[in-house]
Amino acid sequence: MKARIEEALNEQIKKEASSSHFYLSMASWAETKGLNGTAKFLYQHSDEERFHMLKLVKFVNERGGKADIPSVDKPQKSFESLENIFELLLEHEMQVTESINNLVDICLQEKDYTTHNFIQWYVSEQLEEEALARTILDKLKMIGTDKGGLYLFDRDLENSAISPDPAAEQQA
Ligand code: FEO
Repeated sequence: MKARIEEALNEQIKKEASSSHFYLSMASWAETKGLNGTAKFLYQHSDEERFHMLKLVKFVNERGGKADIPSVDKPQKSFESLENIFELLLEHEMQVTESINNLVDICLQEKDYTTHNFIQWYVSEQLEEEALARTILDKLKMIGTDKGGLYLFDRDLENSAISPDPAAEQQA
């Protein structure tokens, strides 16, 4: 594996680890506010990000590189509101998408078609994650400060009515 590719993949490992940590902090905050459905959704999302990281770690090592297990920054501990959480989540996912697109660029520049092929899974994953975050945010904007609406929103998330399919994710 070329050094430039290895470096870029290791940077992505750090980003996925940071995402997992960030969503874990959001999940914990939601849990302390009694928003059990939102907490469940975010704990699950945090696990998915760890899976994204793990998939990269294994790929780097299998291809003859060395995965660099990163330290991660402490995420913020409290949030203004549910809407604020999902705004931050969408913003964060958009940054991750940019970083994945950058990885695709580097693969093409280095003519590393194997890694390019591997990264396509992340390209589709980003599309889904951004779409999901936008859907949730739209719902929250519609609900506004209506307590009954927020209660139903949280219950919907608890019943996984608008959550990703973790089984499909693990098989990928
Ligand atoms: Fe692994 Fe949500 O990007």
